[in-house]
Amino acid sequence: MQNQPVVSVHDITKTYGKANEKQYQALKGVTFDVHQGEFVGIMGASGSGKTTLLNILSTLDRPTSGTVAIDGQDVTALKGDRLSDFRAKQVGFIFQDFNLLENLTARENIALPMALQNVSHKRQQDAVDKIARTLGIDGVLDHYPTELSGGQKQRVAAARALVQEPAILFGDEPTGALDSQSARELLNTMRELNQAQGVSILLVTHDPFSASYAQRILFIKDGQIGSELVHGDQSQADFYQEILNTLGTFQN
Ligand SMILES: Nc1ncnc2c1ncn2[C@@H]1O[C@H](COP(=O)(O)OP(=O)(O)OP(=O)(O)O)[C@@H](O)[C@H]1O
Ligand SMILES: [Mg+2]
Repeated sequence: MQNQPVVSVHDITKTYGKANEKQYQALKGVTFDVHQGEFVGIMGASGSGKTTLLNILSTLDRPTSGTVAIDGQDVTALKGDRLSDFRAKQVGFIFQDFNLLENLTARENIALPMALQNVSHKRQQDAVDKIARTLGIDGVLDHYPTELSGGQKQRVAAARALVQEPAILFGDEPTGALDSQSARELLNTMRELNQAQGVSILLVTHDPFSASYAQRILFIKDGQIGSELVHGDQSQADFYQEILNTLGTFQN
């Protein structure tokens, strides 16, 4: 279907703790869509619920109430093998710490999701070569993670997330462990993936510079979306300034 949102979140809440324990409501009714090919940022102070939200969107956790559809599929209705297959195929995820397996080469790390899905060796290798070229890591595919820079590790992690062409790429502070040069390179690559390949991206960050790469930013405060900024036609520098201004008024 044309124009169907790639992610559709409807009124989700999340309460941590069992009924007979101390409870904490981390999300209090969050509703938004991410459109096909959009690059959306989510910002908010520490403890505002960003990771909670992302874990639910990426199907690692379930909301207490509300629904999440990815590519038209209500993921809150999926269980067991169907859920893990859906997650492996349709959801790409990059974290702050790269989560690479140290005893596998970059190539083997990238191929891992396909190996787990019993994709043929030839298709695995073709897919790895293609995404590695896109991300500029084709020269380091035989290296082990300890032989890679932080920026290269995060590119390998991004390649692993994207190798099965998921509906959406989620990132939780993916530049958090990188030096500023590597962070900038990763952000430029994400923008290129978004603009040239049409990859839909949802990026959680508390860094205004990273957020300035997004087309639209949702600000979350105490488990609710408090405001939204749209990049529009303004320069990235102007958008960055607008983000700083919003954070200034928003967090007090
Ligand atoms: N497993 C859990 N059990 C109980 N409370 C939790 C749990 N996970 C998170 N919380 C609480 O929910 C709130 C939101 O946490 P969350 O990790 O989503 O914040 P965040 O916005 O990602 O913060 P940060 O920027 O520090 O990563 C916090 O108050 C946190 O203490
Ligand atoms: Mg977090």
